[in-house]
Amino acid sequence: MSHIVTVIPGDGIGPEIMDATLAVLEKLDCGLEFETHQAGLRAMEETGELIPDATMESIRRTDACLKGPLTTPVGEGFRSINVQLRRLFDLYANVRPVLTVPGTKAHYEKVDIITVRENTEGAYLAADARFTDDGERAESKMVATRKGCRRVVRYAFEMALKMGRKKVSIVHKANILKMVSGMFLEEARAIAREYPQIESNELIVDNTCMQLVMNPWQFDVIVTTNLFGDIISDLCAGLVGGLGLAPGANIGDNEAIFEAVHGSAPDIAGQGVANPCALMLGAALMLGYLGQEEKARMLRTAIRATIAARDHITPDLGGGHSTAEFGKAIASRIQ
Ligand SMILES: NC(=O)c1ccc[n+]([C@@H]2O[C@H](COP(=O)([O-])OP(=O)(O)OC[C@H]3O[C@@H](n4cnc5c(N)ncnc54)[C@H](O)[C@@H]3O)[C@@H](O)[C@H]2O)c1
Repeated sequence: MSHIVTVIPGDGIGPEIMDATLAVLEKLDCGLEFETHQAGLRAMEETGELIPDATMESIRRTDACLKGPLTTPVGEGFRSINVQLRRLFDLYANVRPVLTVPGTKAHYEKVDIITVRENTEGAYLAADARFTDDGERAESKMVATRKGCRRVVRYAFEMALKMGRKKVSIVHKANILKMVSGMFLEEARAIAREYPQIESNELIVDNTCMQLVMNPWQFDVIVTTNLFGDIISDLCAGLVGGLGLAPGANIGDNEAIFEAVHGSAPDIAGQGVANPCALMLGAALMLGYLGQEEKARMLRTAIRATIAARDHITPDLGGGHSTAEFGKAIASRIQ
């Protein structure tokens, strides 16, 4: 069955890695139709809006969205478009898998961890953020709801069940944030009891970071709240060789947006040297979501084989080739 996909090329390196990803999807011949729309800085330049209505309408109507990274000004300016998209479409589960790829500079072998991060609540949203009138105090609210906690934890256990994963680690800070994180833990414990076939354990977030560095193989699926999941998933990306290999899926009940975990990389934008693999792996997650698991497997296999052979790899992986050349080498391995 053919599917329609909204494509948002994004800012910085976004258009470069999107071109390489679309070329690989073309080669896979998975019957996808693409509708290109803008969001972020490029949309602002072209339409005067950060998230144009046409982009919103397309995401709502199509089967999935593949999105390049979007720039957010640091410490000032507009609120993150990524955060707004997640909230507008209620994309409550942010799924971020990492898997060691032979041939990279990863410090660990055989790491295979999926972080499921709550995506719509918590400290990350900076609700009601403001300075006091004298500018001496900055405040923002941290809000969690039982519904929000329950649905993301259930998503993690259901995903673990479907994928044949063995263990879910519930990561929190309920010793200090007794209400906001405490409620997450309470709800997570209740849901864990409904899945006796899946082992579960509880860890405090700071200990989790140390454990991930000391012994990452003890982890299988991690479920946690928004800000902790943001940080932990980048740590996990570091375990397997960096952000160039880490994809993310933002899943809601009706819409889903697939992307790379990394940002718009302004330091290398326009040079044609960005690694396209994270976005390609995001596209593989999208294919799985659209029921094309075999095509997703083919794409992952082609990416892994190209990196293992160190064939036309980009500078971040220790090579000297361009995004387009790397993309072509991956495409050539798709049979
Ligand atoms: N999902 C998203 O759209 C998203 C995620 C994170 C950051 N951002 C935004 O991106 C902008 C830049 O953020 P940042 O510099 O903190 O993080 P970044 O992920 O853009 O870059 C961090 C470092 O990793 C490198 N890098 C990232 N992706 C790479 C790739 N594909 N190939 C090779 N090297 C790569 C960059 O060159 C840089 O040195 C900010 O505006 C931030 O808000 C967007």
